[in-house]
Amino acid sequence: MLTINVVTLFPEVFAAPFAASILGRAAAQGLVRYRTTQLRDYAHDKHQVVDDAPYGGGAGMVLKPEPFFEAVEDLRAGPPIVLLSARGRPFTHGDAVRFAVGTELTLLCGHYKDVDQRVVAGLGAEELSVGDFVLSGGEPAALCVADAVVRLLPGAIGDHESASTDSHYDGLLAPPSYTRPPSYRGMDVPAVLLSGDHEKIAAWRAAEAERLTRERRPDLWVKYAQDD
Ligand SMILES: C[S@@+](CC[C@H](N)C(=O)[O-])C[C@H]1O[C@@H](n2cnc3c(N)ncnc32)[C@H](O)[C@@H]1O
Repeated sequence: MLTINVVTLFPEVFAAPFAASILGRAAAQGLVRYRTTQLRDYAHDKHQVVDDAPYGGGAGMVLKPEPFFEAVEDLRAGPPIVLLSARGRPFTHGDAVRFAVGTELTLLCGHYKDVDQRVVAGLGAEELSVGDFVLSGGEPAALCVADAVVRLLPGAIGDHESASTDSHYDGLLAPPSYTRPPSYRGMDVPAVLLSGDHEKIAAWRAAEAERLTRERRPDLWVKYAQDD
């Protein structure tokens, strides 16, 4: 069973997503358990202050190191420990696979201006970003990571949601999908998908996956071509 720990100022953000859909089902099946920890419980003063002004001056508040260290120590969490961070390396499908084959994953959510950098150095945390934009806090990013990992756990999703034909699974974007009706507002489903010829359909999908990846994500296309 995979344990996903989340250290956050807003544990309530995770209650509904961890109980719904694939994430909730996986927990009910015993494939994963979630532990959310309130960072403020590890504050050192009666006002439960977890942030302070940045050394060197400047706007915003920085989350202090002690609560993160003590929360992780209380969880007895080992690697991988991830600090969600806009300056982190991009989170990829490869990371999701790596976390899904492990037994424990700990996600640290930042907030306010920043997190004291000693959290990364001292806890051996990886800084991962979910995109080239800035969120108000690490919580939506932690949910992205948790969802991407849990859907890869064997048994978490059924055939009708199969992960193996999704984008990024084999390094390519997925081909487009269509369902009934065959014609809608003058837009027709590609004839090959209605042909019943499985070989032709597979070839069309493969060609579309390659075309879309080449056009939309030349970075992925170069990597795919190199790895081939
Ligand atoms: C307002 S942001 C801080 C941004 C930081 N000052 C910077 O410029 O990189 C607050 C927190 O949201 C989270 N966060 C923001 N953008 C993120 C992203 N793209 N990926 C992952 N986490 C992000 C991080 O945990 C961060 O500490």
